[in-house]
Amino acid sequence: MTLRNSGAVVAEGGGASTQLKLHKREFEQVCRTMYDSFGIDLEGKEVLVAARLGKKLRELQLLSFESYLEMVRKDASGESLTAMVDVLTTNHTSFFREPKHFDYLRSTILPSLKPTETIRIWSAACSSGEEPYSIAFTLCEALGAGAETRASILATDISTRVLEIAKRGVYEADRFSTMTHDRMRRHLLKGSGNSSGLYMVRKEIRSMVSFHRLNLMEDFAQVEKFQVIFCRNVMIYFDRKTQEALVRRLTDQLEPGGYLLIGHAESLNGVEHDLKYVCPATYRKSTATTSTLRRGRTT
Ligand SMILES: C[S@@+](CC[C@H](N)C(=O)[O-])C[C@H]1O[C@@H](n2cnc3c(N)ncnc32)[C@H](O)[C@@H]1O
Repeated sequence: MTLRNSGAVVAEGGGASTQLKLHKREFEQVCRTMYDSFGIDLEGKEVLVAARLGKKLRELQLLSFESYLEMVRKDASGESLTAMVDVLTTNHTSFFREPKHFDYLRSTILPSLKPTETIRIWSAACSSGEEPYSIAFTLCEALGAGAETRASILATDISTRVLEIAKRGVYEADRFSTMTHDRMRRHLLKGSGNSSGLYMVRKEIRSMVSFHRLNLMEDFAQVEKFQVIFCRNVMIYFDRKTQEALVRRLTDQLEPGGYLLIGHAESLNGVEHDLKYVCPATYRKSTATTSTLRRGRTT
């Protein structure tokens, strides 16, 4: 638990002698850094920031938020900043999370593509890999043999820590509780001996997914165009202005007629965009190539 104390928030957990106070100016500095660098809006979240960064300070054996922030500022490699965003956001994810999107991909999107078309899907904010691998499993099941040559998935996240887990593609058995045994047999290798209790995503499936670090606030000049973009459960961190700019830039990365899938707890209500609502958390770009927003029309 954390307590408010004379304008500062106290991060508890280290005993009275090592109580860490997050002062208002330090909190404001964290907010500014997270917003400017990653678009993350922490307004009103003093308690969360004090608790999560307090834990980090204890790990690093630092005695004040001031020294921590100075360390982050001086680290030219950017690693400390990445570690900071990592503790301030959640990486919660699961295989086939929000299953309706995977059903829609299989039943509607994939059959609408030309059989000769190369399929490109982007899992933007992929966390530890469960989302892009669920996309790959769906593609293999729907397209059969040849899915690996016909389809590719770009999976990106800001956190190098979760990307390492994703690239390994090795998970504990309980991560697959949402998958049938048949599906597990088809797509996973079961570990034995020292690896007992672990499962590895098969090599053919891993070869369909390429993982890269990408900050969604940075420019997408190096990113190609996609028929489908999954950008789920990350926009909750952004304010409306940032969401609007991101949705517009993601729309630019969609092929005409392409789909943007967002988290079911998220909404584009109040966000000006150029997409057509299809069904919950599912939006489609017009098949015409010119954007109405860019032509200056917003209705
Ligand atoms: C809750 S997870 C969502 C994972 C997956 N999309 C899902 O729905 O299960 C949110 C992810 O967004 C990432 N993230 C937060 N801010 C980001 C940014 N500015 N650019 C890229 N990724 C970001 C976090 O590192 C985290 O892994």
